Amino acid sequence: MDNAGIAATYLRDRGLTGSFRHGLVLGSGLSAVAELVKDPITVAYRDIPGFPRSNVTGHAGQLIAGRIEGFPALVMSGRSHYYESGNIAAMRMPLELFAALGVDNLLLTSSAGSVNRDIAPGQLCIVRDHINMTGLNPLIGEPGDERFVPMNAAYGAKLRARLKRAATEASMRVSEGVYMFFPGPTFETPAEVKAAKVLGADLVGMSVVPEVVIARRFGMETAAVSVVTNYAAGLDAVFPGHEETKRMASDRALAFRRLFTHFFKGLGDVM
Ligand code: HPA
Repeated sequence: MDNAGIAATYLRDRGLTGSFRHGLVLGSGLSAVAELVKDPITVAYRDIPGFPRSNVTGHAGQLIAGRIEGFPALVMSGRSHYYESGNIAAMRMPLELFAALGVDNLLLTSSAGSVNRDIAPGQLCIVRDHINMTGLNPLIGEPGDERFVPMNAAYGAKLRARLKRAATEASMRVSEGVYMFFPGPTFETPAEVKAAKVLGADLVGMSVVPEVVIARRFGMETAAVSVVTNYAAGLDAVFPGHEETKRMASDRALAFRRLFTHFFKGLGDVM
């Protein structure tokens, strides 16, 4: 059995039975979003065989299983990033585990810097598409034809439409934009931010993209919502920093909860 299979067996023994169709990945400062989960079973990453641990402050390091608005859901509170290990496939095992436990809809959250003056710090932004020009891809080295994943509809129109409807129902202004992946851990230079803008980006960030690639490889529908924690370097005089990122993200955790509450409530009509 592979690592994900071993971990799935371990979690089944810990009471995670049945199929969890919905998965949620929570980024820095967003662990309070997990309070959406009713009747939670919480398992620390360190207790799950083979599970990667994040060493980033602001990440809880817990897998939470339960129900969101009645729908069985799995939540990763804390994620691994490329910049922690140099492994672009660091999220492969957790997402393969999600697939093994039944997840076919994956919602990713993250913080991001805004390259677009119309998308201000504090706003939530639905990712419409991404740009990855880093040369990194978590499927490099993967054998077989399944590595040739089309990315046309990586951020599926259906899930995005449901998120937008949830935002309307929650009376929230949520924008939509293109996310450009940077490997970090340094923030971008002002020149890189200018280049990102010219290329069509609205957001810059250090996560999401490798996860979407892996999740698409496993056949999941994916969507991502970023909280803009700052204007990207050079748009204003402020230097981005991790403390501010965490603070702004945790200030907006309640907004994510409202958005996702309406999102899951809306699923009742269609699933
Ligand atoms: N750049 C990259 N990642 C980020 C930023 C940023 O400005 N803010 C939050 N995450």
